[in-house]
Amino acid sequence: IAGSTRSTAGRGLWSSRWVFFLAATGSAVGLGNIWKFPYITGQNGGGAFVLVYLACILAIGIPLLMAEFMIGRRGRANPEGAIAAVAREAGASRHWRRIGSMAVLTGFLILSFYAVIAGWTLAYAPAAFSGSFAGLDGKSSGALFDALLADPWQLAGYGSLVLAVTLGIVALGVRDGLERALRFMMPGLFLILLVMVGYAATTGYFMQAVEFLFAPDFSKLTGQGVLMALGHAFFTLSLASGAMMAYGSYLPAGTSIVRTSLMVALADTAVALLAGLAIFPLVFANGLEPGAGPGLIFVTLPIAFGQMPLGALVGGLFFVMLALAALTSTISLIEPAIAWLGERFGMGRVKAVLLSGAAVWLLSIGSVLSFNAWSEVTLLGKTFFDGLDFLTSNLMMPLGGLFTVLFTGWVMQRALAAQALGLEQSGGFGLWWLAIRWITPLAIALMFLHSLGLF
Ligand code: PHE
Ligand code: NA
Repeated sequence: IAGSTRSTAGRGLWSSRWVFFLAATGSAVGLGNIWKFPYITGQNGGGAFVLVYLACILAIGIPLLMAEFMIGRRGRANPEGAIAAVAREAGASRHWRRIGSMAVLTGFLILSFYAVIAGWTLAYAPAAFSGSFAGLDGKSSGALFDALLADPWQLAGYGSLVLAVTLGIVALGVRDGLERALRFMMPGLFLILLVMVGYAATTGYFMQAVEFLFAPDFSKLTGQGVLMALGHAFFTLSLASGAMMAYGSYLPAGTSIVRTSLMVALADTAVALLAGLAIFPLVFANGLEPGAGPGLIFVTLPIAFGQMPLGALVGGLFFVMLALAALTSTISLIEPAIAWLGERFGMGRVKAVLLSGAAVWLLSIGSVLSFNAWSEVTLLGKTFFDGLDFLTSNLMMPLGGLFTVLFTGWVMQRALAAQALGLEQSGGFGLWWLAIRWITPLAIALMFLHSLGLF
């Protein structure tokens, strides 16, 4: 683990709170914020969807993030082992650990398509630097993106590269370099997003975008949309996928879980909203369709990079930073599986990386093909990629989150939870406990039922 020192248990610990914050933020901030948030917001009609998403972050995501860090730190093991350890301490059934195994599987499945999308950003970086976006309009930019999607070899090549780099970093433990990269990448990404919001403000469509994002029109929001907002709150904060629990398991005892969670959620939300403000003015200015789908940023942003001063440089840097942001997320997506294989089956790190790498790579080819050769192969109207995305974000994550809060609020005793969270003396504990015991499970359950059209 990044800049790790060895603990007595033989597991590494984060070398400082700051490194832990960087790693957790690195996991949270990624394609979810810049690629997924804008496109699903566009598909779901804007403001009302954004409002539900923000409410989910606040009322469900943040309390659950604290719970995951806490369980990881208390259990000091991979997600399955950590829950098993906490369950033992609470005198509860061992079967609760299945939440952890499901989380490991969820992260693994997400990685298989996440790496493919990260490959798109890798493909776009050299194109941006070379200035080939100059003079693009909505039509030609769309054609450029379609050409990329139509080429399975290119998609598979870039996706495999992302996976290889991810697995290499995880296998070799060359994380000092990553830590250094994180230090400039996060502020850099933030800065570039600000520049792009600034540019978007010059298009004359900025207020239209603000209205689209923040003026809620609930008639546009469906039950499925509500579930997508919930699922995205989980996805964007890396919840119910093992990532945050695994990272918490390397967390030193003295670090404030509450403060870290709030800061991670704030940074993550800020990046998503900035991305929305950068993209939607361009969507409207170029007569594009907000609900165009997964290609939204890859079609809109190149138009802007082709027009703005220094666009080749700004665009190239943007795609490089987005790829790096994706990389810090892919690392956190595979780490739980590696730790699980190691601690549960005694598998060596390199062997675990090779095994899970081969499996995830095979799955990734399914996502690659769903944009071309298999685009007509659907189940319940969904391609392989759409199906995996739906399964993980809208089913596995909300369900995993539901069981995690039930475990935390109803299986761990209050005193144990307060101690594990480090909040024994504080009034804030009552608020978190209320959220974990009542608000989060009820909200998740109601949103599930609502999406099924039950009320
Ligand atoms: N939170 C990451 C993003 O928004 C994606 C992710 C999900 C990472 C689950 C780890 C675990 O891009
Ligand atoms: Na995110």
